[in-house]
Amino acid sequence: MALLNLRIDGDPILRKISKEVTKFDDKLKALADDMLETMKEEEGVGLAAVQVGRLKRMITYVNIEDDSVHVLVNPEILSEEGSVTDTEGCLSVPGKTGQVERPETIKVKGQNLQGEVIEFEAKDYLARVLCHEIDHLNGILYTDTATDVVEV
Ligand code: CO
Repeated sequence: MALLNLRIDGDPILRKISKEVTKFDDKLKALADDMLETMKEEEGVGLAAVQVGRLKRMITYVNIEDDSVHVLVNPEILSEEGSVTDTEGCLSVPGKTGQVERPETIKVKGQNLQGEVIEFEAKDYLARVLCHEIDHLNGILYTDTATDVVEV
């Protein structure tokens, strides 16, 4: 396991579209482990591979309900419902927070590290984290749509 360098806003890679993962091998597993370690060290609740310079559609995240950590490969949002505006920050945009409108509930589809397809529903904060990380895979930062961005 190794800590990975975070890419910070202004780095052009953060604006690129990440590529679909097709190989579910040991290299992917090693990257996921390093991302989990880096997310923990940086005290983040989510991390997209592009934030550590890898243009792969893979994210790691924390479910704060039970403090469990997860890896999701090729994630996509199948449907969304409701709308909540709340505070967000990003490890790639240090020292700031802003208000972002996100769906209240989403249905998500993705794959695990074995390539098996998984589908689940996420609500509230978890839905927010997943939307934020999936945005990263499409070159989007929360500050693109946030209001009331402040220094913290
Ligand atoms: Co972020």
